[in-house]
Amino acid sequence: MRLRDCHNFHDFRRLAQRRLPRPIFDYIDGAADDEVTYRRNTASFERCDLLPSVLRGVETVDMSVTVLGQKLAMPVYCSPTALQRLFHHDGERAVAAAAAKYGTMFGVSSLGTVSIEELRKAHDTPQVYQFYYHRDRGLNRAMMQRAREAGVEVMMLTVDSITGGNRERDLRTGFSIPFRLTPGGMLQFAIRPMWGINYLTHERFKLPQLDQHVDMSGGAVSIGRYFTEMLDPSMNWDDVAEMVRLWNGQFCLKGIMTVADAKRAVEIGCTGIVLSNHGGRQLDGSRAAFDQLAEIVDAVGDRIDVIMDGGIQRGTHVLKALSLGAKAVGVGRFYLYPLAAAGQAGVERALGLMRAEIERGMKLMGCTAIGQLSRENLRFR
Ligand SMILES: Cc1cc2nc3c(=O)[nH]c(=O)nc-3n(C[C@H](O)[C@H](O)[C@H](O)COP(=O)(O)O)c2cc1C
Repeated sequence: MRLRDCHNFHDFRRLAQRRLPRPIFDYIDGAADDEVTYRRNTASFERCDLLPSVLRGVETVDMSVTVLGQKLAMPVYCSPTALQRLFHHDGERAVAAAAAKYGTMFGVSSLGTVSIEELRKAHDTPQVYQFYYHRDRGLNRAMMQRAREAGVEVMMLTVDSITGGNRERDLRTGFSIPFRLTPGGMLQFAIRPMWGINYLTHERFKLPQLDQHVDMSGGAVSIGRYFTEMLDPSMNWDDVAEMVRLWNGQFCLKGIMTVADAKRAVEIGCTGIVLSNHGGRQLDGSRAAFDQLAEIVDAVGDRIDVIMDGGIQRGTHVLKALSLGAKAVGVGRFYLYPLAAAGQAGVERALGLMRAEIERGMKLMGCTAIGQLSRENLRFR
């Protein structure tokens, strides 16, 4: 199977599965506990039907949107994800370049493997910095200052990861940073030798967002310990309000799921919220963002940009979310499997397919601009 044989999410997933050692594939593909929420995320779109309008003259389609003060050429952005260097040696560089080619935003994780500064210099397309809140308030301020100096446009604080999710696939393989593989996990690396050769012949694995502040590289601190020892589980709304004031720019909370929390986000001056269950990787059993979208748009959609992520695999999923009132949607695995399958070329192909699906879908729905999508186009079963 080659890149040109990949026509959808499932094809990229299969190709990634062939290229990656099982522990790494499972880190991307897995989720928390019984993975109920993970499955529900995509299934939720299937309970909602589209109602097309016909004979409306749809020769040209404009799918651009403005979200968090950024103009995007398409309504889908690459949500921040950790450790991309493990999936392909170009990691975030490949994702940022592909996002730039399609005129959309990309996120860089606190656990990203390329620095926010390098990525900001390389491309003009808007960059999101995904932030975790540390016990050390000075460290939080220093990291925000660094992001400001780098020219990052959007600060995105993840609020659903106050402790790590129970990812049992990772426990079975021993996936962690640094690696603590089980014998079974080691065997899986041995039967994918190309990955190892490639890994060793390219740039060393780094976590440049943290390296200046935390000694991760020497293996002194594992990512598990980073979460338990350095992040602050006592983080509350007052702490975040202070961050929002300090940042004084586009500030978004990722992982909001209730109307009450959405209203508090408005009150403390956030400019956006991402409804998200972290791709089912944190609280299993939590609701799909798509199922929760209408309620939250109705409550705060006129005061704050409501965004969602989770389970998006198709252009029609995007159209359903936008019809309910989302300003844009984020994708994670949708670009991670292509990254693993073929680096930048893979992510470009995936975003190109997504753009073509959205354009085709809008034409079939009788819409020439995103603003024409509305709940009149939807029926829930
Ligand atoms: C491998 C992987 C790593 C992720 N790392 C992060 C991260 O570091 N920070 C974060 O806020 N979200 C992270 N996420 C969650 C994504 O940003 C996004 O919310 C989620 O992937 C959306 O679901 P989807 O994969 O079904 O599109 C990660 C997701 C995956 C699959």
